[in-house]
Amino acid sequence: MLWQSNRGLDQLPLAFRFSLTAFLLVCGLGYLLGLTNIIFSYVPVDGKPGLSIDDIRLAFNGDPSGSKLEKAIGGNMKQYLSSDSDGQAIVTWIKNGGKEADFGTVQPIFAVSCDTCHSKDVATAGYVTDSYKDIEPLLASDSGISWARLIALSHTHVNAFLPLMFCLAIVFSFTKFSDPLKGVVMVFAFASFTIDVAVWYLAKLWAWAAPLVIVGGAVLGIAYAILIILPLEELWIKRIHFMLAKSNKGDSK
Ligand code: HEC
Repeated sequence: MLWQSNRGLDQLPLAFRFSLTAFLLVCGLGYLLGLTNIIFSYVPVDGKPGLSIDDIRLAFNGDPSGSKLEKAIGGNMKQYLSSDSDGQAIVTWIKNGGKEADFGTVQPIFAVSCDTCHSKDVATAGYVTDSYKDIEPLLASDSGISWARLIALSHTHVNAFLPLMFCLAIVFSFTKFSDPLKGVVMVFAFASFTIDVAVWYLAKLWAWAAPLVIVGGAVLGIAYAILIILPLEELWIKRIHFMLAKSNKGDSK
C-alpha cells in the first residue's frame, strides 16, 4: 500500500493515479473559482474597473475620509464657504472625532455658510446643518467590513481550506521528494494559509495593510500551485520517464 513502501506516486496502480489526478485537478479548479469569486466581489468597491489596492482598502478598512459632510465640504458645497480656512476648520473638527464638545468652534461657519439652505425650515435636499444633532448623521464614515462579517468569512475560509490543504499535504508527503524539501513545502503551505487570513485583520485595522491582502493571496496561490503541480508531475511526467527507461533497458537486452 501507499503508506507501507513509499516508492513515489509514479509507481502507484493506474486507477489510483487517475483518482489522485482528478482530485488534484479539481483542487486547482476550486482555487481558480475562489479567485474569480474574489475578483468579482471586490472589483466594484471603488467604482473603477479592475481590482486595485483601493478596492481592498475600502472593502476592509473603509473610507475614513468618506463621511458625507467631509465629501460635501471638499466637493460641491465648497463654493458656499466664505474661505478655505473655514473648510479647513470643519475638516480638522471632523478629523478630531467630530465631537459635540468642540462643535462650538465650527458652529458659526455652518450658521453663516450653510444654514441659508440647510436650516430646519428649508432643509435643501433633506439636509439640515442647524445643530450638532442634525449634523451627526453626516459624520458617520464607512468603516469597511464589519468585525462580525470578517470573523464569519475567516471561519468559512479556514473550514474550507484546512481539509483541502491537509489532503494535498498527505498526497505530497507520498512523493519522492526529499524529506527536507517536503518539510519546507509543508511549513510554507500551512503558514501561507494562516498568513492569508491574518492579513485580512491587518487590512481591517490599518489602511496601509491593504496590499498585504494581495501578497497573502498570492502566497497561498503559490503554495497551492506547488502542492498540485509537483505531485502531478510525479504522477505523469516521472511515470513517462520511468516507462521509457524501462523500455530502453528492455531493448538493450
Ligand atoms: C445655496 C444653497 C446651499 C448652500 C449655501 C449649501 N448647500 Fe449643501 N446642498 C445644497 C443642495 C441643492 C444640495 C443637493 C444637491 C447636491 O448634492 O449638489 C446640497 C447637498 C448637501 C449635502 C449632501 C451631499 C451628498 O453627497 O448627498 C451636504 C452634506 C451638504 N449639502 C452640506 C452643506 C454644507 C456643510 C454647507 C455649508 C458649507 C452647504 N451644504 C451649503 C444647497 C446648498
